[in-house]
Amino acid sequence: MSPPPNGTRQPDLSIAFAGIQLKNPVIAASGTFGYGIEFEDVVHLDKLGGFVVKGLSKEPMAGNPPPRLYETAAGMLNAIGLQNIGARSFIDEKLPKLRQIKNIVVIANVFGYTREDYEQTIQILNEGEGIAAYELNVSCPNTASGGIQFGSDPRLLDEVVATARHCSPRPLIVKLSPNVTSIAQMAHVAEEAGADAISLVNTFVAMAIDAETRKPRISNVTAGLSGPAIKPIALRMVYDVSKAVKIPVIGMGGISTAVDVIEYVLAGATAVQIGTASYWDPCATEKIVDELQEWCAEHKVERIASLTGGIVLE
Ligand SMILES: Cc1cc2nc3c(=O)[nH]c(=O)nc-3n(C[C@H](O)[C@H](O)[C@H](O)COP(=O)(O)O)c2cc1C
Repeated sequence: MSPPPNGTRQPDLSIAFAGIQLKNPVIAASGTFGYGIEFEDVVHLDKLGGFVVKGLSKEPMAGNPPPRLYETAAGMLNAIGLQNIGARSFIDEKLPKLRQIKNIVVIANVFGYTREDYEQTIQILNEGEGIAAYELNVSCPNTASGGIQFGSDPRLLDEVVATARHCSPRPLIVKLSPNVTSIAQMAHVAEEAGADAISLVNTFVAMAIDAETRKPRISNVTAGLSGPAIKPIALRMVYDVSKAVKIPVIGMGGISTAVDVIEYVLAGATAVQIGTASYWDPCATEKIVDELQEWCAEHKVERIASLTGGIVLE
């Protein structure tokens, strides 16, 4: 990006939520940016608002057998199965490397199959320094309740968020599943249970079949749909949720340009996350920050924060 002419001020892209200051609203989404450190050679990590690391569990997990990814029209199906190195290895192996990089914001995504899993994972992560916040992935089946997802039952959601709140000294972002009837209701439940911010959406349950072999395209049969295909639905959900809660909302789903970011901000998002776009272009997050700076300058937006919820309805 070329520097502004003398005397012209750069637009202020900084935002804040849950007591965390970000230099811009662009955050790399969980599961699409490794543990951050793997992207060090392709992205200037300190240019991003922040990044969310792969979902972490108490113990390491191997994930599902292949095929686990399939590209669809304007989207991607994944059933990675939450493969990860486990919270302890993250603290011991990844976090020390991340802490050597100045000026970055690291958010740890956490998941589990019981309330105790969430609690124990957070307790392990509490020992590590340099984590700005926790993002709770509640799109996992609760094994203690017969496999129903935490994020699709208000009572389970209330319990898991209250548990995490209790053991977390750090800001708590609750990441909602879109596979519910009323995501606004779930956001309200999470807010009441102690969430500091809401992020949405996770992937939509979907599937693809190969007509020739008659087999599912993904070994797990069903998978999560992400990418541009989900953007209009996710945008509507961000709009609904931002009207239902007082806490900040972090929007995501199919963002691949600065204009997409602006649409989410106008719908009510304070910040956004970029997921699948990083699969198609590993530098997408950083490019979107540059584009956003240019878009704001061209549109004479001095502070991006002033656009949050700025949709014009009349
Ligand atoms: C390959 C892949 C892995 C993902 N893993 C996680 C994860 O571990 N935890 C989580 O909360 N979300 C995970 N997600 C969901 C994304 O963070 C994001 O919510 C979703 O993909 C929608 O954003 P997008 O359309 O920009 O990709 C994953 C998505 C993809 C594509």
